[in-house]
Amino acid sequence: QRTVVITGSASGIGAATAQLAREQGDRVIGVDLRDADVIADLSTPEGRTQAAEQAVAAADGRIDAVIACAGIAAPIPKTLSINYFGVVELLQALRPTLAESAAPRVVAVSSMASLQPAPAELVEALLAGDEALALERAEAYTSQDQQTAYAVYPASKRALSRWLRRASVTDEWAGAGIPLNAVAPGTVLTPMTKELLATEESRAFVDQSVPMPLNYHQPPESVATLLLFLASPATTHTTGQTVYCDGGADAVLRGDDI
Ligand code: NAI
Repeated sequence: QRTVVITGSASGIGAATAQLAREQGDRVIGVDLRDADVIADLSTPEGRTQAAEQAVAAADGRIDAVIACAGIAAPIPKTLSINYFGVVELLQALRPTLAESAAPRVVAVSSMASLQPAPAELVEALLAGDEALALERAEAYTSQDQQTAYAVYPASKRALSRWLRRASVTDEWAGAGIPLNAVAPGTVLTPMTKELLATEESRAFVDQSVPMPLNYHQPPESVATLLLFLASPATTHTTGQTVYCDGGADAVLRGDDI
């Protein structure tokens, strides 16, 4: 039996992943703000430390995979703290425990938004590991109109996918036999997008920026199945990848950029 730590397990993609994992016989340690085995706030350094310590304790010191789903899409600086540091710092804290597994795996939820325009100064501050600087720089965007403020979300996901790519080939991760991958969904039908898709006008806006010619908006299970495959022992040589599971949005938007 594999023990899998899943953040954001109380809702949406994380909840679907936790359910599928349990159905396939895994032992799941859920981490979330509520309704979880470990109640912790991943937006703060203390919360991340607490989440890691309690997850290791709940797992009796044996963790085979971490699936990081927790995230928000709000046009506020905190989005950087949760979506980037809430993944990266938690993974770093869990790495020594993971490294003891016979088949350790890490998968995070990025987004097709990682391909959208994102301010380089935000992405750089995140990758430099400077949370204070990232939050300070974010204010300049989030204090403006909605569209400008939204930039923190693509920045958080771009930086996350890039961190995974950089870290994946280092001694710390590849050297310890731990693949690091991400799944990048398109528009998923979860509480996060409910309001966005509520009116015809807002839905048209979403569909224009996230075109999904294959099967249109996706259920959280479509993401969960891929997350669990990448978290399984079958994933032996895939690392540093962000796999787009997005109804074709990446293929439409990036076209021949390969
Ligand atoms: P959701 O809102 O249904 O679930 C997110 C979960 O994360 C919630 O249970 C929430 O309590 C938890 N969470 C939020 N802040 C937290 C914090 N500070 N500490 C601990 N837990 C926290 O959202 P959904 O749609 O399931 O999103 C999951 C991930 O998928 C996010 O990273 C999101 O950015 C990403 N994503 C979602 C897409 C969508 O269309 N819904 C598209 C692409 C990516």
